[in-house]
Amino acid sequence: MLYRSLAKCLRGEVMYNEPLAPYTSLGVGGPADVMVVPHDVDDVKQIIRFCYKEDIPLLFLGKGTNILIRDEGFPGIVVRIGGKISDIRYNGKLLEAESGALLSEMIEFSKRLNLSGLEFAIGIPGSLGGAIWVNAGAKTHSIGDRVKWVEVITEDGSVERLDKSEIAFSYRSTSLQFKPWFIWKAALELEKSKVEIIEEKLKYFWQRRLNQPYHLPSAGCVFKNPPGDHAGRLIDACGCKGMRIGDAMISLDHANFMVNLGNAAARDVLALIEKTRERVYQTFGIRLSLEIEIRGGHCEKGIATLLKERKQVAENF
Ligand code: EPU
Repeated sequence: MLYRSLAKCLRGEVMYNEPLAPYTSLGVGGPADVMVVPHDVDDVKQIIRFCYKEDIPLLFLGKGTNILIRDEGFPGIVVRIGGKISDIRYNGKLLEAESGALLSEMIEFSKRLNLSGLEFAIGIPGSLGGAIWVNAGAKTHSIGDRVKWVEVITEDGSVERLDKSEIAFSYRSTSLQFKPWFIWKAALELEKSKVEIIEEKLKYFWQRRLNQPYHLPSAGCVFKNPPGDHAGRLIDACGCKGMRIGDAMISLDHANFMVNLGNAAARDVLALIEKTRERVYQTFGIRLSLEIEIRGGHCEKGIATLLKERKQVAENF
């Protein structure tokens, strides 16, 4: 009933009890109470205001390439950024794109304009919003290095432009992860170059990915690399390649990938994560931390509660 009142005000598609597994690259997870594919950013503003007022859990889902949804599903609203909010343009100085733009499309777009700087992202399957949220990258490059500003929709539905200096970017993490805000747009600084140089760089970064399992569903690298080492190397050295729980398996190609052999459940992947962590800890004394985001289930909180809790933590710090 509560959700129906919101649905009446939206122009985008609204689905109830919608299974989330098909919207993630790993292909696991239960349903969302509600899924909305917004028609435009006004829909997003309405949803975020509604969730704040009613204290409902909210999740923005781009291509779903770096996320594991629990089997219990998502007890709130999932906003799936479909093809609509995905404009890409160049204003003569900056490449500006909306969060639903795919990194692959942005690479093609910049190549046509002889703009260099995004080549490292070749093969990263996600959208710009997700890439900024997690500060996606490869080797020593990450999207945050290129960001000039990010425009977000805050909990009261207003648009705020954050300069790069107002966002803390670190290895596979940003300060934006502490706010339930919608990453709407970002401007990236790229350099003029030559198409041959851009193609060389694309080839270089593509080759760095050839050891990754593209033929099976996964969520990319599961763990962050610990300082001075590689999660993949550590997991491999513990003999974990091919370790399997249900249909979740540690890839035979790259040990920091967990693949879904067909019918994996989220609980299988979660159990495999714990088993792997334990093995690495027992063998090397290193505690691996997650790169992928785990969402859904009973621990989800409404966004008003989340903001209140985080404010208290910041005040007590
Ligand atoms: N290694 C093994 N066994 C494995 C996998 C790797 O021994 O099964 C060894 C390799 O031989 C190499 C080292 O570990 O010496 C590093 O491997 P790789 O070059 O594949 O790089 P990575 O650190 O595992 C990082 C990113 C990837 C990114 C690649 C390529 C992280 C957690 N991973 O992987 O990002 O694609 O570099 O640039 O930072 C992702 O973020 O989802 C992701 C896949």
